Amino acid sequence: MADSQLNTSYMGLELRNPIVVASSDLTKTAEGMKKCEAAGAGAIVLKSLFEEQFLVEGDIPESDYAMYPEALDYMRSGGLLEYAPSRICREIEQAKAEVKIPVIASINCQTSSLWPRFARQVEEAGADGMELNIYDLPIDPRISCAEHDSLYFRIIKDVKESISIPISVKLIPQISSLPYLANKMAEAGCQGLVFFNWFLEPDIDVKKLSTYSRKGQANFNQTLRWVALLADRIGTDLAASGGVRNADDVIKQILAGAKAVQICSLFYQKGLDVIRDLLAGIEAWMGEHKFAALEDFRGELSFKKQELSFRDLGEASSYFRAQYLKIYSN
Ligand SMILES: Cc1cc2nc3c(=O)[nH]c(=O)nc-3n(C[C@H](O)[C@H](O)[C@H](O)COP(=O)(O)O)c2cc1C
Repeated sequence: MADSQLNTSYMGLELRNPIVVASSDLTKTAEGMKKCEAAGAGAIVLKSLFEEQFLVEGDIPESDYAMYPEALDYMRSGGLLEYAPSRICREIEQAKAEVKIPVIASINCQTSSLWPRFARQVEEAGADGMELNIYDLPIDPRISCAEHDSLYFRIIKDVKESISIPISVKLIPQISSLPYLANKMAEAGCQGLVFFNWFLEPDIDVKKLSTYSRKGQANFNQTLRWVALLADRIGTDLAASGGVRNADDVIKQILAGAKAVQICSLFYQKGLDVIRDLLAGIEAWMGEHKFAALEDFRGELSFKKQELSFRDLGEASSYFRAQYLKIYSN
């Protein structure tokens, strides 16, 4: 089966297949991006550029930053800022000269005014799309959900006004009403949403009586839920990210309604060549089920499709409640 039958469009970009190499060190250099393309990926999301990295070489006074100077010193000393933006812009330029698949840049800022500025820099380097890696962990009990939500809208609006390439947002799961926020982000001009970002999780060392952070465990089923609940119900494409381990997982996310599936840990574990196995697995499954194209089954098991058989959202809520009770009464 040719790639053309696996093609998909995601945030306005044409992808030869739905497998996207997620933002990580695998996509940090033009060389890495070329390897992803050669291995068969449909698109690449670059390693995130963090605001602090721009400070290393930028002409912006430190006083303009929202970040604590101590945190900045800590990052400088730990070598976390080596990946300077001029270098990544060169890597994008070089990659764009040699790679045909879409290259989506990723930025993560803390200071509001810097989002559009950095987005412009990366667009000028030739990126095809922009993934906004928004990290906003609510820790202040006085700040309402609405205030947190407005942060997302403001960033999207500011970036949208500054660049013309399509924008997506990679979200964390700690959001009070994801359907509401997602819908409003789509209205604000966001063309793709990625459920969900990798996250740090807290733990406690009981011997040392101290806290520490560890890499969060991806929750495949949580992603599946939100993709299924929101696919084709809001005006933006959805990409699933987190816990995809094999072709069946990719198929599940597409059945739920994802337009693309971002993968990272699997490539670290098995190498990029596993992309061929994923594609072969999807093709074999499509053959068995007589699907000629991804769009023939994308969203087939989404809530949108089910919703059509519910009288209204009240009936859908009752249905979900019945499922919940069924599990607990067994
Ligand atoms: C080593 C490593 C580095 C990562 N760096 C980034 C990053 O810079 N920006 C980002 O948005 N996500 C980053 N991620 C998260 C991945 O893009 C992805 O969303 C997450 O790992 C979940 O997918 P997975 O279960 O397939 O690994 C990183 C993940 C890993 C393992």
